[in-house]
Amino acid sequence: MGREPVKVLVAEDVGASGIDLLRDAGLHVDLGFDWTREQLLERIGEYQGILIRSATKADAELLARASNLQVVARAGVGVDNVDVDTATRQGVVVANAPQSNVVTAAEHTMALLLALARNVPQAHASLVDGRWDRSKYSGVELQGKVLGVLGFGRIGQLVAHRARGFGMQVVAYDPYLAEDRFAELGAERAADPADVYAVADFVTVHLPKNKDTENFLDADAFAAMKPGVRILNVARGPLVDDDALKAALDSGHVSGAALDVFREEPVTDHPLFGYPNVVVTPHLGASTAEATDRAGYQAAEQVVAALTGQPVTTA
Ligand code: MLT
Repeated sequence: MGREPVKVLVAEDVGASGIDLLRDAGLHVDLGFDWTREQLLERIGEYQGILIRSATKADAELLARASNLQVVARAGVGVDNVDVDTATRQGVVVANAPQSNVVTAAEHTMALLLALARNVPQAHASLVDGRWDRSKYSGVELQGKVLGVLGFGRIGQLVAHRARGFGMQVVAYDPYLAEDRFAELGAERAADPADVYAVADFVTVHLPKNKDTENFLDADAFAAMKPGVRILNVARGPLVDDDALKAALDSGHVSGAALDVFREEPVTDHPLFGYPNVVVTPHLGASTAEATDRAGYQAAEQVVAALTGQPVTTA
């Protein structure tokens, strides 16, 4: 009798090159892009490897049923949809693709920054709806404005570099980055988030999601910001307290927000959808052809390594 094939489930669309790599390595690949959670729970026991993006929760419930699983690879930066502790206890390797989509995420932040400053989505919707509203959608320039960056890691730094190209001043907060790096990156170092809030015209969050950063932008944070500030979140939904943001928008203290990520995803009904000064996109921060392909390929490399006994760069 022949040997059983080693099976990998690609649970989300990660681009063709990662899937090709898995198949070229002799692995049996199933695509489960449209599987329901129930199907996933029912069938996960068949697989030695699973490749995911943001939508699949590799949580304790899933892992409990994953009796043959050896590796979970996430085609993206964070691993916050993976229960890493449970996986590690079960001997399941957790890997990611930490550099794969940082440029794409920074570029989406810039897209939203410009959309927010110039009311692009609202003006587009209004014009195609038959209205020529030039004065209503007059915006603000970026040049000379202060961009506050919370979390000055790879994505925050790329955003800062691009914002500097638009003539913005950058004030950044990151307790883990060496002091001299801020000046090298053309940013002023804020010792405390409050130092960012005091001066920023736009505040963008690029923090990882963990227990210390949940609701990082809460009512106190908004109250400490300059009146008229605009907020961007292309990182993770739970970094922003939605109720506090809604209250700050309702009072006019925050004059606009651009949100790519949400506490619960997918989401099609949200208290801030339909606000005239809130621009939203459905978690597109990492979604370009290039980044999807890169992330899928790098995550697939980790799956192949884990399933063929080679070293894995764990998350
Ligand atoms: C990431 O963490 O890199 C992204 O959220 C990945 C994704 O878009 O699925």
